[in-house]
Amino acid sequence: MGEAILSSLVGAVGADRVRISDGRAEYGAAVAQRHGVRWCATNAEAVDGVGAVVIAVKPKDVGGLVGGLAGVLADEALVVSVAAGIPTAFLESRLGAANPVVRVMPNTPATIGQGVSALSAGSHATAEHLERTEALLAGTGTVLRVDEAYQDVVTGISGSGPAYVFYLIDALAEAGVVGGLSREVALDLARATVAGSGAMALASGEHPAILRERVSSPAGTTVAGVRELDERGVRAAVIAAVDAARARSVELGRDLT
Ligand SMILES: NC(=O)c1ccc[n+]([C@@H]2O[C@H](COP(=O)([O-])OP(=O)(O)OC[C@H]3O[C@@H](n4cnc5c(N)ncnc54)[C@H](OP(=O)(O)O)[C@@H]3O)[C@@H](O)[C@H]2O)c1
Repeated sequence: MGEAILSSLVGAVGADRVRISDGRAEYGAAVAQRHGVRWCATNAEAVDGVGAVVIAVKPKDVGGLVGGLAGVLADEALVVSVAAGIPTAFLESRLGAANPVVRVMPNTPATIGQGVSALSAGSHATAEHLERTEALLAGTGTVLRVDEAYQDVVTGISGSGPAYVFYLIDALAEAGVVGGLSREVALDLARATVAGSGAMALASGEHPAILRERVSSPAGTTVAGVRELDERGVRAAVIAAVDAARARSVELGRDLT
């Protein structure tokens, strides 16, 4: 996720104004070389004198990392965190200064510039800080704003959502194999169907129920398939999956040390 955001940062401000650090020195240095940015051996070196810092470590590592920035990072520097479940209030308390903090939930299609990110302002972040964050993330795809109270459910939908869609692609392909297709052809059909349907849902702006009705002829093949999805509780399972991811995001925010 950090590398996806790095690409966007380079596009927004230029490689010569971006520095990175990472726990895995060899890996981090290779990433830096790939993007033409400066590699820093320590986080302190990376944040020294910067106007903005993006934190993209696992939620369990955020507390230690941010604690280490206190006193090194300039008080006015913008702090952007993409860590799932970590409230802005926690980051603010660890920083120990009035840094503007923006919490972001991106998703992995950001790696090809087709992600969606939701961002929320911490207590010291203004509209100008949100605009700066939007500009920094523009290369990752769509960026929208939500109240921080909704970040956990956003995590359940769009943060974890790509995994549900990959799961669906895999299941569709498996069905093709059950029906006698080669795995390769079944996967090609499944991938292209999901990509095309997603693109159509976006381009048309129509409600998905309307789009579904349009491809469901009376007594046809599609209604027969959709009836199976309904009878097997797939809609309820999707809602339950999102709710489980939301609950886990809440837990991550509670387990902080
Ligand atoms: N992946 C997703 O789909 C997704 C979606 C939305 C949000 N996010 C959020 O994005 C964040 C990163 O996720 P990821 O999947 O990209 O994780 P990741 O692949 O594990 O990358 C995190 C990197 O941070 C490094 N790191 C850990 N502690 C550090 C420290 N104190 N100083 C410097 N570097 C440190 C790690 O190095 P070591 O291995 O040495 O620890 C690792 O290279 C998470 O908070 C996650 O919630 C991820």
